[in-house]
Amino acid sequence: MTMRIPRLLQAVLVLAGVYFGFIIVFDYVLGAVIPRSLLTMYMFFVTAGVFMVFTYDEERTRELVAPIKALVEDPSRRKVRNLVFVIIPLLVGYGVYNKMQPSFDAPVELRTIHPAPPSTAKIYGERVNLLTLENPYRHTETEDPDLFGEYVQEGAAVYIENCQYCHGDKLDGKGPFAEGLNPTPLNFQDIGTIAQLQESYLYWRIATGGPGLPKEAAPWISSMPVWQNYLTEEEIWKVILFLYDYTGHAPRSWGEAHDAGGH
Ligand code: HEC
Repeated sequence: MTMRIPRLLQAVLVLAGVYFGFIIVFDYVLGAVIPRSLLTMYMFFVTAGVFMVFTYDEERTRELVAPIKALVEDPSRRKVRNLVFVIIPLLVGYGVYNKMQPSFDAPVELRTIHPAPPSTAKIYGERVNLLTLENPYRHTETEDPDLFGEYVQEGAAVYIENCQYCHGDKLDGKGPFAEGLNPTPLNFQDIGTIAQLQESYLYWRIATGGPGLPKEAAPWISSMPVWQNYLTEEEIWKVILFLYDYTGHAPRSWGEAHDAGGH
C-alpha cells in the first residue's frame, strides 16, 4: 500500500495553493495587488468547488470527514480534541479582534494632499482671486515687528481655541482628536505642508475646509471645518501668521516658486 495524503489535507492544500497562487500571480507577477475583498469572494467559490469535487460520492465524503470524525469521537484522542477545541475559538477570536480594530492607514487610493487651488474662490460671499491674494498683515513683519508680534499672539489664541484639537498644540498634527480622523490632520511642522504653500492657499483651505476641496482631492472625506462660518477674515489671516511663525517656516511666494527646485 502506498502512502496517501489524507483527503482532508488534500482539500486544505488545494485551497491554500489556490489562495497563495492568486496572491503570487496578481501581486507579484502581474504587479496588480488583488483587493483582499475580491480574493475572499474568489475563495468562496473555489472552496465551494473544491468541496463539490471532494464530496462527489459517499466514499470520498467519508474519507474527507474521517479525520474530523475520529478527532471528535475517538476516546484515545481526548487530549488533542481538547486542545483543538481551545485553539480554534482563540484563533477565531484573534481574527475577529484584528478585523474590528480600526486602521489608521491611508486608503489604497492615492489622494492629492495639495490639489491645485482654483484661481478664484468664493470666500465670505465674495469671489477672491487666489493668485493675487496676500496676507494683509504680512507687511508688518518687516515694517512694525512689535505690531506683527501682537498679530501672531492673536493668531496663537485663535489656534489654541479652534485648531489644536486636531492639529495639535505643537502643530504636529497630533491633537487629541487626530487619532479618530482619516485623513489625519496635517502636520504643519512637516516640510511637506505649509512650507510648500502660499498664504493665499492656506487662506482658501482654512476658509473653505474639507468641503472646499476640489474633486481630485477625493475620495477622502476631510474633517477640516469650513472656518469662514466660525472665524472672521482677520482671524484667519492672523492664525496663518501664527502657523508660520511657530513652525519657523516661511510661506512660499511667487518669486521663490521658480527657485524651489523645479516642482
Ligand atoms: C476637526 C479637526 C480639524 C480642526 C479643528 C482643524 N483642522 Fe485643519 N485639517 C484637518 C484635516 C483632517 C486636514 C487634512 C485634510 C485636508 O487637507 O482637508 C486639515 C488640513 C488643514 C490645512 C491644509 C494644510 C495643507 O498642507 O494642505 C490647513 C492650512 C489647516 N488644516 C488649518 C487649520 C486651522 C488654521 C485650523 C483652526 C482654525 C484647523 N485647521 C482646524 C482637520 C482639522
